Order: sequence, then C-alpha cells, then structure tokens
Amino acid sequence: MFSARLVQDAALIQAQFDLVLGALDDVDVTRAMAYATQGGKRLRGFLVLESARLHGMDDTCAIWPATGIEALHAYSLVHDDLPCMDDDDLRRGRPTVHKQWNDGIAVLAGDALQALAFELCARPEVGPAEIRADLTLTLAQAAGAQGMVLGQALDIAAETAQQPLSLEDITRLQAGKTGALIEWSGCAGARLAGESPEHMRLYSRALGLAFQIADDILDVEGDAQKAGKRLQKDADAGKATFVSLLGLDAAKARAAELVDEACAALDSYGARAETLKDAARFVIARES
Ligand code: IPE
Ligand code: IPE
Ligand code: MG
Ligand code: MG
Ligand code: MG
Repeated sequence: MFSARLVQDAALIQAQFDLVLGALDDVDVTRAMAYATQGGKRLRGFLVLESARLHGMDDTCAIWPATGIEALHAYSLVHDDLPCMDDDDLRRGRPTVHKQWNDGIAVLAGDALQALAFELCARPEVGPAEIRADLTLTLAQAAGAQGMVLGQALDIAAETAQQPLSLEDITRLQAGKTGALIEWSGCAGARLAGESPEHMRLYSRALGLAFQIADDILDVEGDAQKAGKRLQKDADAGKATFVSLLGLDAAKARAAELVDEACAALDSYGARAETLKDAARFVIARES
C-alpha cells in the first residue's frame, strides 16, 4: 500500500512540475530546474499529500504545497552538491546540476526553485488566504536561518570544529538540516485543513530524525549504485553524524526507537494513519 502510494504520488508531483515549469521560458536555468526536480523518492511531497488526506483535504489543493516542498528540497540538494559545499558529482544517479551545466546555473536554479516553493504555497488554488499565508510563513521558517539553512551551516562548521560534537549538538544540527523540512511536510496537511498540527509534529519530528540517521547509516554501509550518490564521504570529510558518535549498532537502535515513537504519535487517527506509519518504517529500511 505505502510503496504503491509513494510511486503514485511521485507521478502526481512530476505532472505538476511539468505543468508549472513547462510554462516558463525554455532557457538553461529553467532546464536545470526541471532536471534538478526529477527523480528522488519524493518523500516530503508524499507526506504533504498523505497528511492532507488524513485531514480530509483533497489532492487538488495539496498538490501545490507538495510540489512546493519538493522544489525547496531540490534547491537544497543542488546547493548542497556545489563545490563550495559537499562537492558531489552524482545525485539521483545522474551528474549534479553544476556538472551538467556550471556553478552559476546551479546557484541560480537553486535560487529559483526556492522562490518557486513559496509561490506554490501561496497560489490561490491552495485555498483561503489565511491558510496560504500560514503554509508560506511556516515554510519560510523551516527553510531559513532557524531551519534547514541553520542545519547546513552547523554541518559545515562541524567539519573544522576543534572539539567533537556532542549528541545534543548533532541532534540540533540534524533537526535543522533534514528535520525542519520533513516536519513541515508532515504538518502541512493539518495546516491545509486549518487544524492543529500537534500530533503530526510529533510524528514528523521523530520520522525526520530517523530519516537522517538512516542517511548517515547508508553513507557508511549503503550501495552507491542503489543510492544514486557518492557514499562513504561523511567520514572522509570529517562530518559529525549519529554514526560517528554512537557507532552503527546504537545508531540503528535509535532509528528504530524513533520509528516506534513516530507511529505511536498517530495512534489517535486510528487505521487511517496506517500508510503514514508504513512511511516511518520505510524510512529506516530504505536503500536509497
Ligand atoms: C537526501 O534526501 C538528502 C538528505 C536530506 C538526507 P532524500 O533521501 O529525500 O533525497 P531524494 O529526494 O530521494 O533524492
Ligand atoms: C543534505 O545532507 C541536506 C540538505 C540538502 C538540506 P547531506 O549532505 O547528508 O545529503 P547527501 O548525503 O548529500 O544526500
Ligand atoms: Mg551536506
Ligand atoms: Mg551532501
Ligand atoms: Mg548524507
């Protein structure tokens, strides 16, 4: 059920990108935007669509913020792969945007994808003005200097830190780097319905942390072919991760605990939340 849903939702999001990006001038920067948004699991977009369904909201509204968060995520990856950041050549099994074009186009495609993300949350098709404002405001907070950008900055700083990071430091780093966008995605469906995202926040916080621990584990023992990106690079770069701090076994145990926490947070929704619970289980079992 879950894996079929994930694939179906990825196709819905792709169709929406085709529609939105197809309306733009056909130039290098827009081609690079389309390239950067292709592929990927689309887990964040899936969380928006599925949490919206759980709160009785139609896909025709939810597809906009679902596509928006995938645009924002794609921007974060394009910039993350740049030579001045992680300097990676491969993403989603293909050359990174700066390899396919150049650094300038990669910076600009990322910038434009970020702007597009806010546009898609603020579009009239999403719903009443106050709902759109709430989605856009909270996405800005999740993406910026108190969210993803903060996490990325802490991640870079950790490479040259004098002292090893503590568990608390790493938890803060990850909560920003990966957690903030995943938390926003899980909460978006409740926001779209004008409801409190309280339970969804607990679910998606635990899920986001489990997701990043799984990313760190994959970096150590994953298959680069399946992952579609270079692996075994965190240790080389001196990155602070849950694996470097806890070791593989304890990191896996912690990720499994977090999945249980995520599932428990959805108990009040009953059987309707089963697909989202499966998503949490998938996050730590994935190979890419
Ligand atoms: C990779 O994210 C980068 C992290 C935040 C750990 P995903 O694993 O969701 O990447 P795609 O979108 O499926 O390629
Ligand atoms: C990327 O984290 C996080 C963001 C882009 C916000 P990583 O640097 O660990 O992701 P990968 O391993 O390159 O996918
Ligand atoms: Mg990085
Ligand atoms: Mg990286
Ligand atoms: Mg990684």
